[in-house]
Amino acid sequence: MLKDWLLESKYTVVFTGAGMSTESGLPDFRSNKGLWKKKDPSKIASTAALNENVQEFIEFYRERVLGVKEYKPHKGHYILADWEKRGILKSIITQNVDGFHQNAGSKKVAELHGTLQKLHCQQCGKEYSSEEYVNQSYYCECGGVLRPSIVLFGELLPELAFQLALEETNKADLFLVLGSSLTVTPANQFPLIAKQNGAKLVIVNMEPTDFDYYADEVIHNKPIGELLEELNVFV
Ligand code: APR
Repeated sequence: MLKDWLLESKYTVVFTGAGMSTESGLPDFRSNKGLWKKKDPSKIASTAALNENVQEFIEFYRERVLGVKEYKPHKGHYILADWEKRGILKSIITQNVDGFHQNAGSKKVAELHGTLQKLHCQQCGKEYSSEEYVNQSYYCECGGVLRPSIVLFGELLPELAFQLALEETNKADLFLVLGSSLTVTPANQFPLIAKQNGAKLVIVNMEPTDFDYYADEVIHNKPIGELLEELNVFV
């Protein structure tokens, strides 16, 4: 099934979530060891949190910035980058903010939820490197607080990334979801749009998702890294 479709497909688009990076050492959000099992996202990953409890916000996101600098892409990220070079996949739409797809060499990546690799001032928008957080420097020269350039709950998705994701989804004849619970809108609409356009939809996720029903193939209980290594033998 999936390995044949990868070979037959003219336009494969891969859609990744936090499950793509757990084998690198980063926690996901909603599995039993996920970040949102310990913290309420509305209280920490929101603009309200940024305004009301900025210390906790900074602490939480400094941890995550340190995490994406400490951990590295795993074999699965490198396989996807190699597939792009070989024309087996055309692009990656990711909800992840770790930058691991680009670090592994992927070129066409739509980062729907922004990136932890950059910060910007909440007041004046000036951009900074995330090194500022590493060095415990949290304020802009204008006095505004620095925050990661990720999409907080309640914020709009970056226009360019959203447009690229929509274009790629509309061109896909094979749409491969890797490691997402597909619980967050509007990101979780892309698999549906692909399916409605007649693409084959494959969902690879350790646990069931609410979208499994629409998929042409579902693969549970298999770590993504292992699956990609197995597929890489065939494609
Ligand atoms: N192999 C396969 N699946 C895995 C693996 C793995 N090695 N590790 C984890 N998973 C699965 C988990 O079972 C889980 O269902 O990946 C899924 C990740 O789901 P979430 O933790 O909900 O992450 P994601 O879908 O990316 O969340 C979307 O929510 O909080 C926001 O902005 C945040 O981008 C994030 C968005």
